[in-house]
Amino acid sequence: MQHIRDIRCSIRMCLNMLYQDEEDYKMNDLRQRCAAARKLLERMPKAGLGFFPTPFYRLSNLSGELGVNLYIKRDDFTGMNLFGGNKVRKLQYLIGDAAAKGCGYVFTFGATQSNHAMQTVSACRRCGLKPILYLVAIVEPDEEDLRANLLLDKIMGAEIHIVKMLPGEEENAADEQAVVMAREHMKRLESEGHRCYEVPMGGASPVGSVGFIEGYVEFMEQTLSMDFHPDYVFHGTGTGGTMAGLAAGRVLTGSDAAIISINVSWKDKGYPGRAGALANESLKLIGADVTVDADRDIHTDLNYYLPGYEIPNQASTEAIRLLAEKEGLFVDPVYTGKAFAGMLDYIRSGRVPQGSNVVFWHTGGATALFAEKEILGAIV
Ligand SMILES: Cc1ncc(COP(=O)(O)O)c(C=O)c1O
Repeated sequence: MQHIRDIRCSIRMCLNMLYQDEEDYKMNDLRQRCAAARKLLERMPKAGLGFFPTPFYRLSNLSGELGVNLYIKRDDFTGMNLFGGNKVRKLQYLIGDAAAKGCGYVFTFGATQSNHAMQTVSACRRCGLKPILYLVAIVEPDEEDLRANLLLDKIMGAEIHIVKMLPGEEENAADEQAVVMAREHMKRLESEGHRCYEVPMGGASPVGSVGFIEGYVEFMEQTLSMDFHPDYVFHGTGTGGTMAGLAAGRVLTGSDAAIISINVSWKDKGYPGRAGALANESLKLIGADVTVDADRDIHTDLNYYLPGYEIPNQASTEAIRLLAEKEGLFVDPVYTGKAFAGMLDYIRSGRVPQGSNVVFWHTGGATALFAEKEILGAIV
């Protein structure tokens, strides 16, 4: 009997050693891949705009309540100004590219309360470039009572062109109209000898998404230093540039965390495929030899954005309150509130098993808490 017990004990010890070896091997591989990714990223033109790495830590109160290990990646703290967010990562590479190409003007797009537009203006001001915005009035701003990002754009002295939405017009049609108008404007400036740089809505270009490849590498470096193994990463997705960069970074580092991207607006069936293609363009740009497969690596969820973009819903309102009351932190009604609500539903419904290591990637946007009432909803 003692003999059998000894054999069992030895087998267990061997298995433990094997398991430890495999874990060590994985960690070493991840470390090496992060270092190699940093080398590739170093070659890209970049403007130093924000404060990195952004904080990453555990939310103890909510972890206890939800039965998972909930961590937060604070990209609302990217800087440059008080109102950081995900676009700063993209803008480091976009503005770096604009400066390398000798451009003096930067054009970009979004809704009148666009976080991306506000952060682009801030980045341009810091780097001495002239920001020109073409903004679609999904929610009509009150010129006598400017709010949130539009107010900040004005304070920073951006040149702002408001593109009104015609009755019954689709958002996409108004967005396209904004691009047509901006390109005519660029032509005029270029005929006068100026160089212009066009940043697409949300900074969703191969250059912009490189910023989120770097973001994922930074995140992996943090998890390694904390000996933390993420099972799930949740974030909100709009134009898809953040998602593309995260998916690319995940493949590049060999991370096995599942990224769940919660849609904040209506998207057609081709959206994940386009994001996959964008991820691959970014990977090619930095000279990486891996690719994203949209079917395998991109997971979007359209169940949490209704009734629509910039229109709050009950779940997002409750999510904003929950995070504020339990942790003293703020998410916003347009992006991060809906993403947080989606994550809560995955956890509460058991789709994310109890005890999992879950990360909420906070992409910013809290200025929307000071936007028009239609956008904010009935939080208080
Ligand atoms: C706060 C916030 N979160 C998430 C997103 C979505 O990012 P992306 O457009 O890269 O999908 C945005 C985009 O504007 C945003 O402002």
